[in-house]
Amino acid sequence: MSQPPPGVDPNTPNVARMYDYYLGGKDNFAADRAAAEQMTSLFPDVRAAALENRAFLARTVHCLAEAGIRQIVDIGSGLPTQGNVHEIAHRVAPDCKVVYVDYDPVVVAHGQALLSRGENVEVVMGDFRQPDDLLAKVSQEIDFDRPVAFLLFALLHFVHEADKPYEIVAQMRDLSAPGSYLALTHATPAIPDVSEAALEIYKKATAALALREYEEILPFFDGYELLDPGLVAPRDWRPDADTYLPDTHASVGFGGVGRKL
Ligand SMILES: C[S@@+](CC[C@H](N)C(=O)[O-])C[C@H]1O[C@@H](n2cnc3c(N)ncnc32)[C@H](O)[C@@H]1O
Repeated sequence: MSQPPPGVDPNTPNVARMYDYYLGGKDNFAADRAAAEQMTSLFPDVRAAALENRAFLARTVHCLAEAGIRQIVDIGSGLPTQGNVHEIAHRVAPDCKVVYVDYDPVVVAHGQALLSRGENVEVVMGDFRQPDDLLAKVSQEIDFDRPVAFLLFALLHFVHEADKPYEIVAQMRDLSAPGSYLALTHATPAIPDVSEAALEIYKKATAALALREYEEILPFFDGYELLDPGLVAPRDWRPDADTYLPDTHASVGFGGVGRKL
């Protein structure tokens, strides 16, 4: 982006735009690129980790659509990129409703511009940390009496304990019909030096990191049965030839897909 839209601060690194930069996108400013480059020099596999996160997202959405899911809520959806959720879902099931939710006005504006002609796709502004408001908006598009999949990809590691992430995920589970799904990825403090430096970089960005260990990520799936192979490095979740990235060691997080019990 050359000029910031009105009301947008281009000088504070923005977590959605930094992620866009890792993925090779163009929707970012100099401050986003500088912070993302700092991350890249600290941990060169950060780009591969972002790509693997997207590849796992693609496999998950394909799997959910094949399993019969026709309603998907993608919270912390990020800037539109290649292989958006609705594109993957609609290849299997054009009638699958996809609702994107993000709290970043730039993400929402880009999404609405890109998707204005799409069918069965909505983009709404919502903050995960304000679940009543978010779910009220989403319920205008989603029928919670029918199965739904909540996608929380690379989101919960921006939500700190004070904002009660476990309670909010449980609230979403309790609202969901039997046969609903939860799928998520979450960064972990795998490499201590890198994690500490990453925490510092993201402290200066629009959202600070809340890294969690495997044992702290697993309870988000309370009330769900994890599909095989469980909560694993995203690259190891049902890898396929289309999305396999050779020779990376980008496993600084975990991902899983659970079916509501
Ligand atoms: C790293 S991006 C992940 C994008 C996408 N889910 C993916 O995994 O490819 C994180 C996104 O979460 C959004 N986000 C962070 N905190 C949020 C919150 N409290 N509510 C809604 N969105 C949030 C950011 O604006 C950003 O777009």
